[in-house]
Amino acid sequence: MRVLAIESSCDETAAAVVTDGHLIESNIVASQSELHAQYGGIVPEVAARAHLGSIIPVVRQALADAHVEWQDLDVISATRGPGLPSALVVGFGVARSLAFGLGLPFVPVDHIEGHVMANWLTQNDELDVPLLPAVALVVSGGHTELLLVEEGPIFKRLGGTRDDAAGEAFDKVARLLGLSYPGGPEISKFASNAVVRKMHFPRAWLRGTDDFSFSGLKTAVYRTVEESSNPDINEIAWAFQESVVDILSKKAIRAAEREGAQSLLLAGGVAANRRLREVVYERSTIPVHIPLPTLCTDNAAMIAAATRMEMAIAPDKLIDIDPTPYRSRVQKK
Ligand SMILES: Nc1ncnc2c1ncn2[C@@H]1O[C@H](COP(=O)(O)OP(=O)(O)OP(=O)(O)O)[C@@H](O)[C@H]1O
Ligand SMILES: [Mg+2]
Repeated sequence: MRVLAIESSCDETAAAVVTDGHLIESNIVASQSELHAQYGGIVPEVAARAHLGSIIPVVRQALADAHVEWQDLDVISATRGPGLPSALVVGFGVARSLAFGLGLPFVPVDHIEGHVMANWLTQNDELDVPLLPAVALVVSGGHTELLLVEEGPIFKRLGGTRDDAAGEAFDKVARLLGLSYPGGPEISKFASNAVVRKMHFPRAWLRGTDDFSFSGLKTAVYRTVEESSNPDINEIAWAFQESVVDILSKKAIRAAEREGAQSLLLAGGVAANRRLREVVYERSTIPVHIPLPTLCTDNAAMIAAATRMEMAIAPDKLIDIDPTPYRSRVQKK
């Protein structure tokens, strides 16, 4: 089964061709981050217009890179949400129209399930299939969630952030430090230049829960910057990153152990963070799966991976027109 998937929920216009839910034949991502950098964050209307401009070339490139024609496709899918409504409708509308024109099934896909399913992708047909049940730590620009992934797969929410998402914290702290957008890669770069490595920021453990909170940490960084006449950006970036990595890794590993998980999955843009990857691999006694950094941030290959799962578990989702507003399939535990 060959899927053409489209993703446009935020500031990446993406299209991918994936076979059997695993093998990436092409994966094109047109990032708008330079466009939004001048505003220090994403402007929804600007994002939607940029998606309109790039979506057709991106889809064409995905087919060309995969060396396939329209008639070689079996299914078309697109991100249905969550995301910026005006951005989502561009990819969703184009995918829906292509499916209609080609007479193919159309599958709407949950973006967060997509991030998790990136752990089932491969570029060379060799796949280390994650064993279930698994605990998934989704850390992205808009989400920080711990999910239990059971056979099906069924997603159950164990906990999540009570304020900022981890990626949002990286972006906001980067802005505080005068660094550019997106903040994650910038903080990571400056942190690696830290020499002294003695600064310490607080960790909100929220013990007895699988929840997270990053607002106190953000305030602590703000105070440090305000109170210093010449703040050391490298040291602050390092200490901030250490605090986030410490919390995320320990809480995810603890939840996976408690739930008797066979694997621990990381997903979402923050999972591209080198230090987080290193620490989770180092600390976890449970097998860890983390997508390649390029498959952690928004892409359409992950939407294609989740498409196959959607078709297997919810064939009624193969719809002509979806009249329902976005509703997550993630259940409460
Ligand atoms: N190396 C990195 N270290 C830390 N954070 C990173 C890194 N690379 C990207 N990020 C962060 O990841 C986020 C983007 O991730 P992603 O594309 O998954 O989020 P999103 O799609 O905007 O949000 P969501 O998936 O919740 O809708 C940004 O906040 C960015 O700063
Ligand atoms: Mg995302």
